[in-house]
Amino acid sequence: MDKYINSIKNKKIKGEFTPPPDKSISHRSIIFSAIGNGRSHITNLLTAKDCKKTLDAFRQLGIKIRVEQNKYIVEGNGLNGLNKTNKIIDCGNSGTTMRLMSGLLVGQNKNYILDGDNSLRKRPMKRIITPLRQMNANIKGKNKDKYCPLHIFPSQLNGIKYKLPVASAQVKSSILLANLYTNQKSVIQEPKPSRDHTEILMDHLGFNINVKDNKITFNSSQDFKIPNSQYVIPGDFSQAAFFITGALLIPGSELLIKNVNLNPTRIGFLTVVEKMGGNIEVINKKLQQGELRGDLLVKYSSLKGIKVNEKLIPLMIDEIPLIALLALKAEGITEINSAEELRVKESDRLAGIKEAFNKLNLDIKIYPDGFRIHGPQKIKSKAFLDPHLDHRMAMFFTLLALISENGAVLKDAQCIDNSFPNFFKKINEVIN
Ligand code: S3P
Repeated sequence: MDKYINSIKNKKIKGEFTPPPDKSISHRSIIFSAIGNGRSHITNLLTAKDCKKTLDAFRQLGIKIRVEQNKYIVEGNGLNGLNKTNKIIDCGNSGTTMRLMSGLLVGQNKNYILDGDNSLRKRPMKRIITPLRQMNANIKGKNKDKYCPLHIFPSQLNGIKYKLPVASAQVKSSILLANLYTNQKSVIQEPKPSRDHTEILMDHLGFNINVKDNKITFNSSQDFKIPNSQYVIPGDFSQAAFFITGALLIPGSELLIKNVNLNPTRIGFLTVVEKMGGNIEVINKKLQQGELRGDLLVKYSSLKGIKVNEKLIPLMIDEIPLIALLALKAEGITEINSAEELRVKESDRLAGIKEAFNKLNLDIKIYPDGFRIHGPQKIKSKAFLDPHLDHRMAMFFTLLALISENGAVLKDAQCIDNSFPNFFKKINEVIN
């Protein structure tokens, strides 16, 4: 479905916005509920396509899940209570489903096949196969283990000491889930901190897990019974970031963003925005189930270009394209490096930014691992923008069209449903 996005022209972004539930925490809550003991309740679960794939996978493995009012009720069947299935487990577009479920399923002593859509079939899987094999997992990928489908066979796992080559929450979570089945210790060293929702949740549930100096130590014991729990999912900062960007860039805007997850490993974008001169106030902070949440008051700001600190990259990995938008309107040069991971997301996001900027006659220098933009620049041209079925690129292009002078046509706008089903409705509600 192609969609014409009008320029916001003389309107502003005003009012209040509550982001959809956090995608990463939603996946993890489903997983730990399913392998927990007894009935867990999940309030405010994200029901976008990506999380539905995780829900459907557990249903396929025999876990009973039902919805009552706005709660998901999951009947956990314990660590070893997942059934076998003769059918392929379809992870759709969701890298988190595939990489986390693989870690969990190598411990089940059964045969499974996990597959995904055309985008997921192009994403790197060796990054999980390598450590899982070192744990003695019997797992095979396609094309010398580069890609899915992934075939899992019965295995007897052991703990490992593993240095992650790239900071990746999905890879470390996959190892942590596999380690549930070792009765041993695993130590994971990260080059830089990445999102730590799995560690927080495991600590909350009472696992013997410690984190110090980017090193995670997890001692597992088959005697430990994962308790059932009441999960309350906060709003997704990555989705809030689209609205933050809109409010910062559109003159006269002022937006209150409510109940958003403010986990320090997720909000590198706020640090960058602050350095660029953005006016964002953090209010009503509170800690719930180990996750910081709060509200953000964002006001239109005149921005200046900066060189982004490389340490922040994993802490803002999904928000980086939005820095290109801020850079377009900021005074001076903005530069990002060490963001080569953007090339292996749902699409090659650096190539996507380049393609769109070229179509709109905007000046940008793209590096193999980042970009350099000299602002401010006016977006005068009109273009047909192709997100290559990547939900975050489609939302990024929507913002690009809104702040442009003449709008743009967005190809395949429906792909946004993978993570944010009401995106256009929510955007329209705050444009006044
Ligand atoms: C996620 C981790 C990140 C992120 C993705 C969700 C997660 O990927 O880009 O949207 O839930 O663990 P990597 O860990 O591969 O960087």
